[in-house]
Amino acid sequence: MPDGAIGAIAKVLGIGPASVEGVATFYSLIFRQPVGRHVVLVCDSSSCFLSGFDELKQALASHLGIDYGQTTEDGRFTLLPVCCLGACDGAPALMIDDDTYGPVSPDDLPGLLEGYP
Ligand code: FES
Repeated sequence: MPDGAIGAIAKVLGIGPASVEGVATFYSLIFRQPVGRHVVLVCDSSSCFLSGFDELKQALASHLGIDYGQTTEDGRFTLLPVCCLGACDGAPALMIDDDTYGPVSPDDLPGLLEGYP
C-alpha cells in the first residue's frame, strides 16, 4: 500500500486517512512499498531471540546480500523482521511467503531458499 493510496482507500472506506495509515503501519503484512516475489520474515521475539535468531538473521542477510527492508537485485526475496510467528516450539523460526519453518539453522538456508525460485 503506497503512501499515495492512503487517501483513496480512506475515501472508499469512508474513514479518515489517519485510520487507514494506522492500520497500514500496524500490520506487518501490509507492505508499504513493493516487495520481492518471496518475502522472508524472520522472527525476533523472545523464544527465537534466545534460540539463535541473531545467527540466523546474519546468515540470511549474508546469503541474500541484503538487510532488513531490502530486496535482492533479482527481485526474488525481500527480508523483513516479524514478531512471534506462533512457532515458538520451533525457534528460531522464519516464514517464507505462507510457509513457516523452524527450527532453522544457518546451514538449512540454501536448501530452504532454493524452493522459492
Ligand atoms: S518467538 Fe519466534 S515464533 Fe514465537
